[in-house]
Amino acid sequence: MSASTLNAASGVRSARLRVHPLAVRLWHWINAFAIVIMITSGWRIYDASPVFPGIRFPPQITLGGWLAGALQWHFAAMWLLMINFAVYILYGVMSGHFARKMTPIAPRDVVHDLGAALSFKLAHNDVTTYNAVQKLAYVGVLAAILITILAGLAIWKPVQFQELAWLFGGYDGARVVHFFGMAAIVLFLIIHLALVTLVPSTFLPMITGDAKPAGAAPQHQRSNAR
Ligand code: HEM
Repeated sequence: MSASTLNAASGVRSARLRVHPLAVRLWHWINAFAIVIMITSGWRIYDASPVFPGIRFPPQITLGGWLAGALQWHFAAMWLLMINFAVYILYGVMSGHFARKMTPIAPRDVVHDLGAALSFKLAHNDVTTYNAVQKLAYVGVLAAILITILAGLAIWKPVQFQELAWLFGGYDGARVVHFFGMAAIVLFLIIHLALVTLVPSTFLPMITGDAKPAGAAPQHQRSNAR
């Protein structure tokens, strides 16, 4: 629901619009913190036994100092990531957040919005809704996080989670999937940060939860504000 009020005389919203509920903001920043720790400590662990001998990560951008230190960071942040993710998925499904903000994703809209974005013609004045490319990217990165977590569990406990390991083609297969899951999340993060930099009006609402309405539109035109 919108946090704004309706100015009875003008039929125009005068206060602020609720853009992101507290639950989403809490998930988002805890997730960003956990993901950065998981990725940088994961790079250190990877370097100790690379899946692809040609690919290594410079120690300066890794976390943990050495293999055992990196493993401790990775396992500590793993719980934060998994519990935070599970709560967000439950919240997103049960509250209708995913249904409202991330669906539907029509391929035609994705092609249209991608074309508009690449030619710098995509409108950014309504920060309460996501365009089709954003919806696809968010659903995609959530799927990548889930698959990376599952592959990670198969690597961590290949005996206890042997069905999971089998699903990924065994222990080595799970390592490859875990690596590509990480790569997909890093790719998302680079594009995500570039877009937030290009459209900085989206940043504060992810902290405070609300934003000034773009222009003075009548309430019925803003019924999608949540
Ligand atoms: C670390 C720096 C980050 C910044 C500055 C940032 C910023 C933002 C902002 C401003 C939005 C709202 C976009 C809008 O309203 O148009 C957003 C949404 C989102 N971000 Fe990030 N983000 C960061 C990290 C991440 C990471 C690491 C992930 C996942 C790997 C992520 C996944 C998402 C998702 C899924 C949403 C949609 C949330 C929802 O509506 O439920 N972000 N982010």
